[in-house]
Amino acid sequence: MFGTRQRHGRKPRLSERLFRRFVFKYFAQNLLVDLQLQAKRESLDYINAHMMHCMVLPSRWALLRYALRQARSEGLILEFGVYKGDSLRAIADWSGRPVHGFDSFEGLPEDWTGTAELRGKFDARGRLPKVPANVTLHAGWFDRTLPPFLAGHPESVAVLNIDCDIYSSTKTIFDALSGRIGPGTIVSFDEYFNYHGWQQHEFKAFQEYVQAHGVRYEYLGFTASGGTIVLRILETGTTPGPVPPA
Ligand SMILES: C[S@@+](CC[C@H](N)C(=O)[O-])C[C@H]1O[C@@H](n2cnc3c(N)ncnc32)[C@H](O)[C@@H]1O
Repeated sequence: MFGTRQRHGRKPRLSERLFRRFVFKYFAQNLLVDLQLQAKRESLDYINAHMMHCMVLPSRWALLRYALRQARSEGLILEFGVYKGDSLRAIADWSGRPVHGFDSFEGLPEDWTGTAELRGKFDARGRLPKVPANVTLHAGWFDRTLPPFLAGHPESVAVLNIDCDIYSSTKTIFDALSGRIGPGTIVSFDEYFNYHGWQQHEFKAFQEYVQAHGVRYEYLGFTASGGTIVLRILETGTTPGPVPPA
């Protein structure tokens, strides 16, 4: 690509070596840089079309706190994807209410396509994190732990924090909870958009749920960096079909 490795038998100049290493190898030849920029542009297009009225908060923590302030005072507060418990402890602390955390504690059940995260990423080797007294942990795969949990908890969902990353896990959650989600339910997604492949995971599972159940919702906020978003469910059971976000 650069012709002879040495100019007239001499070592290439420092500027040329820096160019080869940093500009060419780490930038111009790097697909991930452009895939990320492309994902950012697609996310910006989506924001321009559907999220212009949203809060833009500096971090997932600020957005999570904001989400909890929007929540109804009654109903279940649930987190899917606990891992070491960072977001679960924050939710428990800020809400002061009973909170339920669901996780296999064995990591992702499938490869997270579009990213470098393979099946088993976030494997806590079955070890449960330390959590405050207002938290109950439900260890196991969502499709196993959700049915018995719902049988014992007839309430509707006030807050749903989804941080399980992949499509199939997110779909399992919405399939199981669709009858418990209604007007006022606050939903937060940790990885909704702004990475290569975002249209295939949490976003896709939610949009399919919206279509299948005639859901109207409004976006409330997103983070300035990363892809965390918060929305509020307005209505469910409207005529199935394409339902644009409010
Ligand atoms: C990104 S981590 C969660 C991070 C956590 N919310 C935090 O703030 O540190 C994703 C978690 O989702 C869990 N997970 C994904 N799919 C699952 C499923 N179908 N059943 C149970 N756990 C699942 C994984 O075990 C992993 O711990």
